[in-house]
Amino acid sequence: MEGFHWRDGELWAENVRLADLARAHGTPLYVYSRAHIEGQFRALQSALQGLQPTLFYALKANSNGAIIRLLARLGAGADVVSGGEMERAIRAGVPPSRIVFAGVGKTVEEIDAAIARDIRCFTVESEPELERLSARAARQKHRARVAIRVNPDVDPQTHVYTSTGMRENKFGVDLERAEQAFELAGSLPGVEVVGVHMHLGSPLADERPYVEALDKVMPLCRRLRARHPAFRYLDMGGGFGIPYWPRQSPFPLEALARELAPRCRDVGLEVAFEPGRFLVGNAGVLLTTVQYVKDNPFRKFVIVDAGMNDLLRPPLYDAWHEIRPVVPRDGEAIHADVVGPICESADFLGTDRQLPPVQEGDVLAVLGAGAYGMAMASNYNSRGRAAEVLVDGDRAAVVRTRETLDDLVRGECCPDWL
Ligand code: LLP
Repeated sequence: MEGFHWRDGELWAENVRLADLARAHGTPLYVYSRAHIEGQFRALQSALQGLQPTLFYALKANSNGAIIRLLARLGAGADVVSGGEMERAIRAGVPPSRIVFAGVGKTVEEIDAAIARDIRCFTVESEPELERLSARAARQKHRARVAIRVNPDVDPQTHVYTSTGMRENKFGVDLERAEQAFELAGSLPGVEVVGVHMHLGSPLADERPYVEALDKVMPLCRRLRARHPAFRYLDMGGGFGIPYWPRQSPFPLEALARELAPRCRDVGLEVAFEPGRFLVGNAGVLLTTVQYVKDNPFRKFVIVDAGMNDLLRPPLYDAWHEIRPVVPRDGEAIHADVVGPICESADFLGTDRQLPPVQEGDVLAVLGAGAYGMAMASNYNSRGRAAEVLVDGDRAAVVRTRETLDDLVRGECCPDWL
């Protein structure tokens, strides 16, 4: 289900006018659609039915507690990458038995906390981490379940910053060395090998990198099955892309299932995925208000009240987000850069855009902002982070209030010699 749609010449979230939300709550404002998230979760379950996968929601995409709770109620587990994400997941109702914990830099404190919670599985990214985890678990007379993340060296054909499964990346263990890492794990007292993990990158356009990676790790899986009695999971990570512009194709989930199902049956493993963007990306928009329309001799700028501190993806990855007035005006289109108020030339939401004519006070919606939008927001330039609203049918609730000056300075102290 599309959570956002046009009705009577206006953009709506389900049965709520975005213009009304902007008026009621101010901007910048993130707005999410419950129906869209539920629809995506069910679409994933039904397309991948043949694989019967376990789905762990990658919290990093959007860690608002209401969204985690919504997905937990639908039956999703959680893929976390920090102690903070783990606690958020638990607070939102995800049982520790449905939490997997990845990340190359887990601290002793994070490991101890996750052991105490008895989470489902650690996604271990290196040999030193295995040693540390085993030692910490053994101290607590515990055996931590582990899946070792392997690096299949497959090019995911995405932005270099979000390619994670190539030989030169910091993630996982090189496929050639993986067997030794599993051997080491088998010899350590505090860990039990239950699976193999991979995550290739994000976002991926189609199924081909997954298939290529699976074909590369299958021989390893067969050998591991024979060697480690508890070995039974294959976690293929996240990365399913979403359409960010009108004619962009959706990720071919059916093709993925068709290719993977026979291969997975062959190795006899339970499959898991860790989708983030797919579930929440197009379930969110960022609303922002036009402050000024500025004509420089060489370029026109629409200056809005949201900046790179609210949505970092355009400057960081050159990512494209559709930008539309929520109530478009008639008249001749303009050609402009849509920029924020921050003191950097990288502070843009979109460059070289064709837009309907806009005026001061108009509200624009930046689409596809539900994943890695608020999650990567900062306080740069002492800007409070935006409020967040969740829409469900014709009701809307604030799920995070706008940050105030007090929020910004909380925790700061002045030495008595100043
Ligand atoms: N699992 C692991 C181990 C991951 O590292 C990631 C994402 C995911 C799952 C979820 O990937 P997804 O299904 O959301 O594509 N900030 C970037 C994306 C970084 C993704 C990092 N890892 C962006 O805004 O595009």
